[in-house]
Amino acid sequence: MNDVVLRTKDLRFRYPTRQEFALDGINLEIHRGEFVALIGQNGSGKTTLIKHFNGLLRPTAGEIFVDGQLTDGVPTSQLARLVGYVFQNPDHQVFAETVEEEIAFGPKNLGFDEEHIAEITQEVVRDMGLEDYLDEMPFMLGKGQRQRLAVASVLAMEPQILIVDEPTTGQDWRECIRLMDLLKPLNEKGHTILVTTHNMNLVSLYARRVIVMLAGKIWMDGTTQEVFSQPAKLTPAYIKPPTLYQLAHRFCPEADISAVVTPEDLADLLYERLGETQAKSHAGGEE
Ligand SMILES: Nc1ncnc2c1ncn2[C@@H]1O[C@H](COP(=O)(O)OP(=O)(O)O)[C@@H](O)[C@H]1O
Ligand SMILES: [Mg+2]
Repeated sequence: MNDVVLRTKDLRFRYPTRQEFALDGINLEIHRGEFVALIGQNGSGKTTLIKHFNGLLRPTAGEIFVDGQLTDGVPTSQLARLVGYVFQNPDHQVFAETVEEEIAFGPKNLGFDEEHIAEITQEVVRDMGLEDYLDEMPFMLGKGQRQRLAVASVLAMEPQILIVDEPTTGQDWRECIRLMDLLKPLNEKGHTILVTTHNMNLVSLYARRVIVMLAGKIWMDGTTQEVFSQPAKLTPAYIKPPTLYQLAHRFCPEADISAVVTPEDLADLLYERLGETQAKSHAGGEE
């Protein structure tokens, strides 16, 4: 077992049709058990980067290691057993007649035996809250359910690392929370999770580490608090910190807002501030 499950070394990638590099010198280490949000404006290179982790794209220059192994020459089918990748538009990966068949497809392909497939199908169906839909046609499901089906189908191949590309796009807040609440226990069970999303409030609620991409490079990388407590540095990446951090910064511009992680932290900061103001006005009144 390797502690560093994903590593890139001077990774550069250029699409054959393009002049500029879509990835321009990426050095990154992701550790086992992390819950990472990969953020950055459209076109910054997020999808291109994560497609390298299961071999859907291969570097123009540089190296990628998955679970300590150099991926050069390792087929996608083999990498897929380690790295589960859920596409940005899950409809592109849904093609079976029923939910159950859809989930069993991957493990069948990998040659798992029937008993194991039945077991794992049951497990991922439970994990993704799809118990009531086993015989449904995937295309009849709602968007949130299709998203969870896509995650279930990938999980059925038992990857250690789960990468979900833009699971929250086009979903309402309740669906977003539902999915993230399903990913969280997977992370607690030991899966390393990497999610790309434009929803900063979700990032602040679930991710412990945030990687910001800008024009094919890593612009910022740190704990969620470290990254979001630097609004000025986020501006060139066209990212606005989550509402919680914006409020904290607005009310207490000179305070260290990196300690504000939950709404309770914000409340404490404001009470503290209120206390100071009251103390000041009392002091003023006694003069
Ligand atoms: N299939 C492709 N062919 C050519 N250029 C592409 C292709 N896919 C993405 N790009 C370009 O690569 C850059 C990074 O895109 P992408 O990885 O999709 O960014 P993100 O996922 O952050 O939105 C963009 O400039 C984009 O236009
Ligand atoms: Mg993308």
